[in-house]
Amino acid sequence: MGKTLIRNIGCLQTPVGSYSHKGSKQGINEKYQNTAIVIEDGIIREITSGGREPAAEGFDEVIDAEGKLVTPGLFDGHTHLIFGGYRQHEIAMKLAGADYLDILRAGGGILDTVRKTREASFEELYAKAEAFLDEMLDFGITSCEAKSGYGLDPENEIKMLEVIRALGEKHPMDVVPTFMGAHAVPPEYEGRGDDYIDMMCEELMPEVRRRGLAEFADIFCEDSVFNAEQSRRYLEKAAELGFGLKIHADEIEAIGGSQLAGELHAASAEHLIAIREDGMDSMAEGGTTAMLLPATSFYLGKTFAPAKRMIEKGIPVAIASDFNPGSCPSLNLQFAINLGCLKYRMTPEEVLTAVTINPACGCGRGDLLGTLEPGKQADLVIWNAPDFEMVCYRFGSNLAQHVMKKGVLVK
Ligand code: NIG
Ligand code: FE
Repeated sequence: MGKTLIRNIGCLQTPVGSYSHKGSKQGINEKYQNTAIVIEDGIIREITSGGREPAAEGFDEVIDAEGKLVTPGLFDGHTHLIFGGYRQHEIAMKLAGADYLDILRAGGGILDTVRKTREASFEELYAKAEAFLDEMLDFGITSCEAKSGYGLDPENEIKMLEVIRALGEKHPMDVVPTFMGAHAVPPEYEGRGDDYIDMMCEELMPEVRRRGLAEFADIFCEDSVFNAEQSRRYLEKAAELGFGLKIHADEIEAIGGSQLAGELHAASAEHLIAIREDGMDSMAEGGTTAMLLPATSFYLGKTFAPAKRMIEKGIPVAIASDFNPGSCPSLNLQFAINLGCLKYRMTPEEVLTAVTINPACGCGRGDLLGTLEPGKQADLVIWNAPDFEMVCYRFGSNLAQHVMKKGVLVK
């Protein structure tokens, strides 16, 4: 791969360290003016300071950043990347007054995507998700998490996880696999949610573990989906098997998901639109990252999670896309960045932390990803912008001009 120099960087902005940034640390970024980065075999070797640039000799590649902003590549810590079909027909249902859980209770929503995902072959799902990963790279996203959860039976959950594994092996993007067998109760188990959780705990989750197909396990803890008691049983089993824990919690109703997340020291809790103070206290105590999904609030017409209160309480805040065919059919994390500032009222520095090091840590990748420092992987974005404020401000455009993954320019 050789040696690369990125020179003439106007501003390099990055959080530092390999840990989750919480409280006042959330808003601390290093900003180096007029700097250069030396990369060797995909790893950052040196970030020069004080306008000093190494002589260009001895490099296999020299990239001129033209005085622009460079940040770490974005890390999308929550996606439902693999799915059959789309759900554009739900727009008419929404306009007629149906809300998200109404559609799901009527056998649509997630269950509609389950039908289409079961019908799709491995190859079809792979090709579709590969194109999504290409689109993500184009937006400056260099790593993501991806969940199963539209198979809801052993054969199809394993099919989805095998697609995720193959993508992680073949695509330049780093893809963190999460098992989400408990995304909804499938039609075969209608009215028998407890039996479905038993099957997950006794059969499917151990099989996923045995095959090494996922690092994390996730469950949708929500009114009329899985209750807190079922979520506890599922996550305790997952922890026993060695999975890291994630939980879709307090998205529409607060039914105990965020308390459980903190109590079980989950790596992250997702959504948290309806979280209350006691849920926040539990998460702060348990060291759980808040994986916030502002584009989903936007798309569902919900309120926005109390991000600033979480920062005040010492919870590390991450912002992700939640890309999925129902509640957020957009993988544009730059839009979530805009919403992070405008709706969560987070500062640009807090937002940059929320789309780089905090999701990297929430997905177990903080040691290699999420910041620009010697020893970390050379995943970065050269922005068509002089500073990160501009990225927070120019909503609707794609400002990622060049994207580097593992030391190689992919855009
Ligand atoms: O995170 N809330 C549950 N799951 C996804 C939506 C999945 C879907 O609607 O297909 C979410 O928003
Ligand atoms: Fe989700």
